Amino acid sequence: MRKSASPPNSTPPKPPSPLPPGPLPPIHAANMEIAHVADENLLFLCKSADLAPGSILKVEREAGALAVYNLEGEFFATDDRCTHGLASLSNGDIVDGEIECTMHFGTFDIKTGEPRQSPCSVAIKTYKVEVRGDDVFAVIG
Ligand code: FES
Repeated sequence: MRKSASPPNSTPPKPPSPLPPGPLPPIHAANMEIAHVADENLLFLCKSADLAPGSILKVEREAGALAVYNLEGEFFATDDRCTHGLASLSNGDIVDGEIECTMHFGTFDIKTGEPRQSPCSVAIKTYKVEVRGDDVFAVIG
């Protein structure tokens, strides 16, 4: 009979599990960075307290910046670039639920992205927004 070449106790002991036995603890806001890493479809935009009602925030990313809006406490996100030109919509003004581009004053519906005022005629892309605890995310991809 052939014997194994390695000694019987050569495997190092396993380290103890960092989690206590039983059900996993709930995810809290402090752990949202971990949740963000785990879910590649979520893009962290901002803390909800950092974007006051009626405000716009530009969020840079490799695939193109997003404009994040707070409309009376509800958050929305669109592409930041105006479809009519090279203007950044986050520099614009919110007027009655529409974003007014500063370049030629065309407007888009913030919730749907549909163009509302000429010369804009092509919709801007909108993103579903999720608020988890104090964190605001866009669903991308
Ligand atoms: S670039 Fe925005 S309206 Fe012309």
